[in-house]
Amino acid sequence: MNILVIGSGGREHALCWSLKKSPLIDTLYCAPGNGGIAEVATCVEMGVEDIPAIITFCKSHDVGFVVVGPEAPLVLGLVDALADAGIKSFGPRENAAALEGSKGYMKDLCREYGIPTAEYQRFDNADAAKSYLQSQKMPIVIKADGLAAGKGVIIAMSLSEAVATVDEIFGGMFGNAGAEIVIEEFLTGEEASFFVLTDGTSILPMATAQDHKAAGDGDTGPNTGGMGAYSPAPIMTEDMITRTLDEIISPTVKAMKNRGAPFTGILYAGLMITEAGPKLIEYNVRFGDPECQVLCARLDGDLLPALMATADGSLDGVNLTWKPEAALTVVMAAAGYPGPYEKNTVIGGLEEASKIEDVVVFHAGTKKEGEDILANGGRVLGVTGLGKSVKQAQEKAYSGVKALKWPEGFCRSDIGWRAVER
Ligand code: AMP
Ligand code: GLY
Repeated sequence: MNILVIGSGGREHALCWSLKKSPLIDTLYCAPGNGGIAEVATCVEMGVEDIPAIITFCKSHDVGFVVVGPEAPLVLGLVDALADAGIKSFGPRENAAALEGSKGYMKDLCREYGIPTAEYQRFDNADAAKSYLQSQKMPIVIKADGLAAGKGVIIAMSLSEAVATVDEIFGGMFGNAGAEIVIEEFLTGEEASFFVLTDGTSILPMATAQDHKAAGDGDTGPNTGGMGAYSPAPIMTEDMITRTLDEIISPTVKAMKNRGAPFTGILYAGLMITEAGPKLIEYNVRFGDPECQVLCARLDGDLLPALMATADGSLDGVNLTWKPEAALTVVMAAAGYPGPYEKNTVIGGLEEASKIEDVVVFHAGTKKEGEDILANGGRVLGVTGLGKSVKQAQEKAYSGVKALKWPEGFCRSDIGWRAVER
């Protein structure tokens, strides 16, 4: 069977790297892909939101299954359009992708079904939002309702900062994504990510992970798409996983089915583990990036049948096996990220890094030009190590980082610190 993966990030490199091992695949395509994906898949110049072009390509290249990486095409209805064209794909339909596409939708679902999450209110104008803020405790969290490339969340430390944020968002800071906002209670605790596959009814827990959103060491500096991750996350004990499944994931899957919007695909719960237990911060309707890299590094066996069973509604009885080892990814980004950064700098040492046992370098914003691999984005590489413990995986990943020769790049030096400190 021919498979098409949609996307161009480290997440999609990890997916292609995993899928490549499947004996069920004839040709693996990726649109648009990147410099590293080109080594394992045939890259196709096509925008991830160009739904007509994707459908035309699938038909002309006999693609039997599409795996959608990023959220934007899911929220736009790519899976629905593919289904209408008779093409199977992995990912939720548009009505279920609203769990990520609209923060207000997700919060209202939690309220209706008693799913633990931060207290909140929705607003579509600045005056009402500002008068609500007067009665709230600080810090407080203000979120653009729609997709804002991971930047739509602001934690305001004071009332004046909160009021200014409300004005900025309604003033167009996030464009249309900020036409509505959610204002919510600030939760304290340790964050963790939990991933399950679901076909709308059955749930297959995958794994736990922890992301590092801040650009700088010690979780300082501006928020990014994610500067590193590890799996498993020690805070997600058996008991915490059971509670998350019982209190958050299962009620959500049932609720979506009740609403006539069954969720199929990977459900990524961003959690705050509070003193009262797990609370839902957000849902993503796709694999995390860089969390996907650590998941794929730990996965043993064929990912494709599980993704296809998810899409087909036959997930019941499907199992995935995981290596006992921990995995840790250090993201290398272009200097300046998440602000302005330079492109087209040459990255050296990739072969040396990849030769190290238990190290894989996933590409994100790279492109191949002649024999060179050039930086072509903010987050550029995900150096991934596997080890008996998070500490050993961390050592492996940083030995890979050391082998790279890319003076225009930077990374955090403390990915995994929480797990290592435990
Ligand atoms: P999100 O883009 O929804 O993942 O939010 C980005 C980050 O903001 C999260 O990873 C949390 O660190 C933080 N955050 C979001 N909502 C809350 C909340 N209610 N309380 C505390 N921190 C939050
Ligand atoms: N790393 C966070 C995300 O994928 O949303």
